[in-house]
Amino acid sequence: METLHTLEALRAFTAAWRRAGDRIALVPTMGNLHEGHLGLVRHARGLADAVVASVFVNPMQFGPGEDFESYPRTLEADRERLQAEGTDALFAPGADELYPRGTEGHTRVHVPGLSEVLCGASRPGHFDGVATVVAKLLGAAEPDVAVFGEKDFQQLQVVRRMVADLCMNVAIEGAPTARAPDGLALSSRNAYLDAEERERAPALHRTLEAVRERLEAGERDFAALERDAAAALERHGFRPDYVAVRRRSDLAVPAAGDDDLVVLAAAHLGRARLIDNVRAGGG
Ligand code: PAJ
Repeated sequence: METLHTLEALRAFTAAWRRAGDRIALVPTMGNLHEGHLGLVRHARGLADAVVASVFVNPMQFGPGEDFESYPRTLEADRERLQAEGTDALFAPGADELYPRGTEGHTRVHVPGLSEVLCGASRPGHFDGVATVVAKLLGAAEPDVAVFGEKDFQQLQVVRRMVADLCMNVAIEGAPTARAPDGLALSSRNAYLDAEERERAPALHRTLEAVRERLEAGERDFAALERDAAAALERHGFRPDYVAVRRRSDLAVPAAGDDDLVVLAAAHLGRARLIDNVRAGGG
């Protein structure tokens, strides 16, 4: 596996693969890789001949007071994991490589609507930062396909919309959420939980599953389902940010007749802000 630090090196690599007729997949990450990320790499392997993973803690997507400084940076361990997975190249640029003039005054990609609801409401500017860095990575690597986790379902939909709106020539693939045996979605931020919080954390997934069951049993009072779920999370010691039943395709508030739904939640537990979602109906 090659480790590439510059845009020039990344472009040279992917250009050579393209000349050889290889299909290229990109897996963007912020590192501190766990089984969830490695699942994306495996998924990518099945879609392409060459897989590039990127590791970049993107300053533009962190708000003031968020965990940019303390976000875990474990590049050497990440490199070993990617190598063991048979990744072809790791792109690990420094901040100066992607933002030579800093992030202020840098072009920003804003996906209206989708970026402002749910996580976007409590993290203003977050999805602009995500869309911008993903646009840069896609522009630099020019992959045939890029793989994102359904764990960050709103992010996946923001990226899909950006790619469609900006006529980007890349397929966006979602990969299923990898979970611990007790149901907790794997996340780098789970490291912020102490032992007692870690015991309670699976209640987030259980609560979403309970909403899914009620939806699939035909309940359509979405507001009541959301209220019950938020109250359940509070009983388990979470401070819920939101619980929302939404239409899967565009995250709009569903009509009673819609049946391809997603139940999403974000909730604070101790120092961690955890997010999760489950699909309801729609096969
Ligand atoms: P990061 O949080 O490192 O996640 C990288 C990718 O891994 C995302 O597509 C995310 O959805 C996926 N992922 C994380 N945990 C997962 C799990 N338990 N199961 C399946 N997939 C999982 O998301 C980002 O980085 C950044 O916003 C990024 C897209 C890289 C832009 O900076």
